[in-house]
Amino acid sequence: MQHLQAAARAHTNIALIKYWGKKDQNLILPMNSSLSLTLDKFYTDTFVEYLPNLHGDIFFLNGKQKVDPKIKIFMNLIRQVTGLNVYAQIKSTNHVPTAAGLASSASAYAALSLAATAAAGKIYSKTELSRIARRGSGSATRSVFGNFVEWVAGNDDQSSYARPVKIMNDWDIRMVAIVVDSRPKKISSRSGMQTVVETSPFYHSWVKTANEDLKNIKKALKNGSFETFGTIAESNALKMHALNLSASPHFNYFEPQSLVAMNAVEDMRTQGVQCYYTMDAGPNVKVICKNKDLDVILEQLHRYFPSDHLFVAAPGPGVELLNN
Ligand code: DP6
Repeated sequence: MQHLQAAARAHTNIALIKYWGKKDQNLILPMNSSLSLTLDKFYTDTFVEYLPNLHGDIFFLNGKQKVDPKIKIFMNLIRQVTGLNVYAQIKSTNHVPTAAGLASSASAYAALSLAATAAAGKIYSKTELSRIARRGSGSATRSVFGNFVEWVAGNDDQSSYARPVKIMNDWDIRMVAIVVDSRPKKISSRSGMQTVVETSPFYHSWVKTANEDLKNIKKALKNGSFETFGTIAESNALKMHALNLSASPHFNYFEPQSLVAMNAVEDMRTQGVQCYYTMDAGPNVKVICKNKDLDVILEQLHRYFPSDHLFVAAPGPGVELLNN
């Protein structure tokens, strides 16, 4: 008999051009295309086994059983796509340095997409997998691929998927995650972005400039201008956070230490060190730099943050099956 089981590993990704708003909440179609870097340091391993005697899906995260309605909805989609009408036992482990607060739905749904479809005996292309992962969480679309990845916004289920972005530079890029706070987010990305779409008077400008940012950052990735690349990423992140400040009710993800980190990066730049920051739906700050400048940057950051709050990541691979 065929063993209806498989395991997969997916790495998290950090967006440099952000996805912040949906035009279709059910299909998870974004308002604008986005671009990210998949990281080697943080990943999720997920094991899926379909068991004919189950009366519902069972989900364990880091060894503890969890009830998560989003997982249930997603597994119903998987059953619809694969045609296998059996419930599953799902075991996920997040490999994120303890208390880093960087666990993400991106690696979770990318790993689950591959493990759940492979366990059902179906092998899909990475493009198809990215469309499936998208239905779990938007950012998961991009974690299907490694390195730099673009999520093409599209207009329907078929046309909204991720694709790798070729790099033609020798930056040897690194990302330093500065952990400011590892508590769960105040406002989930899902509800934060929806409030922004519905109420920010600046939302139209966001979509327009995000698309321009994407075009220009891809150009910078090709022609090798790290300064242009970093400047666009930093300002795109700040625009996303400005939307939150302009929403009704307004909200923000900053903690005092987030501002300390942002200012430290800006100070280093005035001293001639090429580094830029980005920030997502939480207070942790990620610094983008070249490997050759890493030591200087870490030395400066150590003035404000203990070393166990600093995590260096390099580009990581796309989702892959694990031998189980
Ligand atoms: C700020 O992918 O978590 O990280 O699609 O509702 O699950 P849902 O949202 P999610 O949002 C990520 C938002 C972000 C920016 C980004 O990753 O592009």
